[in-house]
Amino acid sequence: MKVELIDIHKHFGPVRANDGVSLTLEPGTIHGLLGENGAGKSTLMKCLSGYQTPDSGTIKVDGQAVSFASPAEAIQHGIGMLHQDPLDFPQMRVLDNFLLAFDERIFPDRRNGQATLHDLGARFQFQLDPDAEIAGLTIGERQQLEILRLLALGAQVVILDEPTTGISTPQKAKLFATLRRLADEEGRSIVFVSHKLEEVEELCHRVTALRKGQVTGEAEMPCPVDRLVEMMFGRSLPPAECPAVEPGATVLEVEAITIPSYRLTVVNANLTAQTGEVIGLAGLEGSGQRLFLRACAGLERTTSGHILVDGQNLTHAPYRRFLKAGVAYSPAGRLEEGLVGGLTLTEHFALAERDGPFLIDWGAVRDQAAERIRHFNVVGRPESPVEALSGGNQQRIQLALLPAGLRLLLMEHPTRGLDVESARWVWQQLLARREEGTTIVFISADLDELLEYSDRIAVFHNGRMMEPLHACDTAVEQLGYLIAGKEKA
Ligand SMILES: Nc1ncnc2c1ncn2[C@@H]1O[C@H](COP(=O)(O)OP(=O)(O)O)[C@@H](O)[C@H]1O
Ligand SMILES: [Mg+2]
Repeated sequence: MKVELIDIHKHFGPVRANDGVSLTLEPGTIHGLLGENGAGKSTLMKCLSGYQTPDSGTIKVDGQAVSFASPAEAIQHGIGMLHQDPLDFPQMRVLDNFLLAFDERIFPDRRNGQATLHDLGARFQFQLDPDAEIAGLTIGERQQLEILRLLALGAQVVILDEPTTGISTPQKAKLFATLRRLADEEGRSIVFVSHKLEEVEELCHRVTALRKGQVTGEAEMPCPVDRLVEMMFGRSLPPAECPAVEPGATVLEVEAITIPSYRLTVVNANLTAQTGEVIGLAGLEGSGQRLFLRACAGLERTTSGHILVDGQNLTHAPYRRFLKAGVAYSPAGRLEEGLVGGLTLTEHFALAERDGPFLIDWGAVRDQAAERIRHFNVVGRPESPVEALSGGNQQRIQLALLPAGLRLLLMEHPTRGLDVESARWVWQQLLARREEGTTIVFISADLDELLEYSDRIAVFHNGRMMEPLHACDTAVEQLGYLIAGKEKA
């Protein structure tokens, strides 16, 4: 089945999310859709799969013009899309969720449905227990269930929007094998939406790059990586600079703390950090690094040891006292913890003024918001609700909201889910703060990021924090070994 998108326009107020996009999907092809955050990838794919209606433009399936008022209509024409956030499934079991998609006339009984789920799953080696609660599945398993559902509904075009976010390495390998099989053996077309160059290089037969709502290039793979970067960003990226900063006075002293938690206890963790130092915390997810980072801001209960900031004993103190001492915590789940859904950017800036007047001068706050939006290069307006922003722009807002002149900045995954350009921008901001004397402690799952930006790296394994290593004489393999819990490379 061949699908053509012709001159698609979709605007949100002043934002031209899609500004005349044309694209052809051939059967048997894995087509990469590349572009930085906010480029318009998700919007284009939502238009193709019936989640949104384009303002203008034509969609053709095998030469026939079609239009979809809903995802159900799109799937009747063989086009199905997996959600970018497979998180809000209702409370139910796997089989019920699978059956929900179908018309009763197609699946008269559960047994038939169960057999279909089983057979399809077996074809791709997806082991899904039909009786398991959806809530207990990993993101990767929910994704597998979604793929099976779309296939059972007869999807000839399967669209995956940033599908590797949050899934494990083996799940990713299985996903890629499945997509290759769907394209190569079954002749379906796959659209793989991503801002990760390595994944697109590994998987795709063709790519189209979008930037600011327009197509900026198309290429057959393999294609030189600098060409792909240029298509995405319009220029090749300069190497990042990491200026050396002379460490100054001690800012943070953590002495032999124990942090009990439901799943894992961090025992006897120690860290001393100087002014302007950048310390990376590494480890498999759930090894204790997040508990430790939160404890450094008074957000986790400790049962032994001490935490001092600038010599002031803050052991057992609440986050509010840490804030007063110049400590800020930046969580990873931007919309869950860092930003407030439903509030506009102006309202966020008003809230961030901690010692502001009781009555808010909205005119002034709006001007300030507009100024910061310009300064931080955010694609959005003072009156935009935060959830309308792309992930990269949400991260920019979160950084813009952090108070100036911090002593200690604690960050979870500063660049997770961001494209190369946005990640580089975030680190420019962080390094500028470090030059002003802010100490930064951050968690990352990206070894290159840890090695590139940290002065020292502390690895966590199973609740134990190892002696920090100097990043300049640590090899990536060594770090990998330590994270996996092995002693020596
Ligand atoms: N529902 C919406 N309302 C307002 N603006 C939106 C909406 N959806 C997307 N946008 C804006 O359209 C642009 C493109 O977004 P999107 O298609 O999500 O990009 P991508 O998937 O490439 O990151 C962004 O500036 C985004 O803020
Ligand atoms: Mg997107």
